[in-house]
Amino acid sequence: MKYILIIGAKNILAKEIAKVYAMNGYNIYLCGRKINEIEQFAKILQSEYKIITELRELDIEKFDTHQSFYSSLDPKPFGFINVTGFYPDQKNAEKSQDDVSKSININYSGPVSLLNIVANDLEIRREGFIVGISSVSGERGRMKNYIYGSAKSAFTTYLSGLRNRLSKSNTHVLTVIPGYINTNKNIERPKLLTARPADVAKDIFNAQKSNKNIIYTKWVWRYIMLVIRIIPEFIFKKLNI
Ligand SMILES: NC(=O)c1ccc[n+]([C@@H]2O[C@H](COP(=O)([O-])OP(=O)(O)OC[C@H]3O[C@@H](n4cnc5c(N)ncnc54)[C@H](OP(=O)(O)O)[C@@H]3O)[C@@H](O)[C@H]2O)c1
Repeated sequence: MKYILIIGAKNILAKEIAKVYAMNGYNIYLCGRKINEIEQFAKILQSEYKIITELRELDIEKFDTHQSFYSSLDPKPFGFINVTGFYPDQKNAEKSQDDVSKSININYSGPVSLLNIVANDLEIRREGFIVGISSVSGERGRMKNYIYGSAKSAFTTYLSGLRNRLSKSNTHVLTVIPGYINTNKNIERPKLLTARPADVAKDIFNAQKSNKNIIYTKWVWRYIMLVIRIIPEFIFKKLNI
């Protein structure tokens, strides 16, 4: 049975993704900080879907641990899904370089550091897939979240280049661009535009299986972002968005 590896496995979306892959017969490495906190979840996946789960400690900000982390995996996974993210409060981040660095490290530099190692291996093996979760916030900078958005934008560009490179070696790269996901029950969001984590997970699995390159989830965000992108800058800069 093939293994997949989930980077940032403790949040609701990552757990839903793990469930979908478990249901479809994949063994799973669940990786993240204080990963033992989801030991019970890992055990339930094992017994319910008759697969193997392994918990691996990983801090995506600790770049110098990434090579030894990857070297320690045996067997090497077939697929990698990066779910890590950090959404700083925009107003705080305008004053705090710590928040800016954290946003860049968790949304961009950390995943790049690890995925570069993964990509070099998959390129030699000529197989596998990488899924990166970016955001609609990376499609155009807005006053309300451009510190987060600019890091996601860089990640989207990285995934595009990686897809271009790895397409020559039979390794597929999927970019996932979510709009709103109701991962946090305390945040009120428009129902029609907000996806359930379980639906996003299914979208990701289906898109990865059918070798899609870029998906928006919910799908309606593809058209919303099309409109957002074509608003002329002299109008866009005056909007309160
Ligand atoms: N929710 C939305 O509306 C929405 C919209 C668009 C895109 N997204 C993206 O979807 C993904 C999941 O979103 P979410 O709302 O579930 O985010 P979240 O609750 O903030 O989850 C982020 C995950 O990243 C992990 N993480 C943070 N720093 C880490 C580090 N240094 N090392 C390892 N793991 C680390 C967290 O683990 P810890 O438990 O250790 O903190 C957590 O599991 C993120 O990439 C997010 O940017 C979300």
